[in-house]
Amino acid sequence: MVIRKATISDIPQILSIYNYEVLNSTSTFDIRPKSTEDFLKIFDRHGPKNPIYVVENNSKLIIGYGYLSPFSEKEGYSLTVEDSLYIHYLYRGRGIGKMLLKFLIEKAKEDQIKNIIAKICAENQPSLNLHKSLGFTEVGMLKHVGYKFGRYLSIIILHLTL
Ligand SMILES: CC(C)(COP(=O)(O)OP(=O)(O)OC[C@H]1O[C@@H](n2cnc3c(N)ncnc32)[C@H](O)[C@@H]1OP(=O)(O)O)[C@@H](O)C(=O)NCCC(=O)NCCS
Repeated sequence: MVIRKATISDIPQILSIYNYEVLNSTSTFDIRPKSTEDFLKIFDRHGPKNPIYVVENNSKLIIGYGYLSPFSEKEGYSLTVEDSLYIHYLYRGRGIGKMLLKFLIEKAKEDQIKNIIAKICAENQPSLNLHKSLGFTEVGMLKHVGYKFGRYLSIIILHLTL
């Protein structure tokens, strides 16, 4: 298994991982599946500074991806990023999410980042546990800011100081 920078040709596999979440879970508040064009824009936004990384298994299948994004475009926030990661539903519970989040934390340290923020749906216990297991602490909650699958959803904000 390797973690490497994503390329445009990975988009179909990344889309299939992400759109599964869009349609089946509250891990993202997107409601309509994303298109290749949407992901091309995400690639453009990330560029070389905050690349998208994929986890590729020994059969060259992409089983997860993740990235850091600026917390805000305002310059004063330049030492703070947010993390995002998605593991293919068939490959969860095998330590891959933890490996990828550890990798993203190391990348943030290399870039002299001081804070990583995670905004996680309150019902996403696996992601809350994953982040807490790597030192993130809960710093707040935004109640009922989301609405998906006919219910209101809250966001828990976690913070890791580097
Ligand atoms: C959250 C997610 C990234 C975790 O990835 P994963 O590869 O399944 O997780 P791992 O096997 O590396 O487990 C790491 C830790 O997460 C927690 N965890 C994982 N699965 C869990 C589950 N089903 N229930 C509770 N905690 C769980 C545990 O704390 C675990 O640590 P431990 O094994 O030492 O107890 C994955 O479930 C996922 O992609 N979910 C959908 C997308 C998503 O929620 N992304 C995050 C958006 S904020």
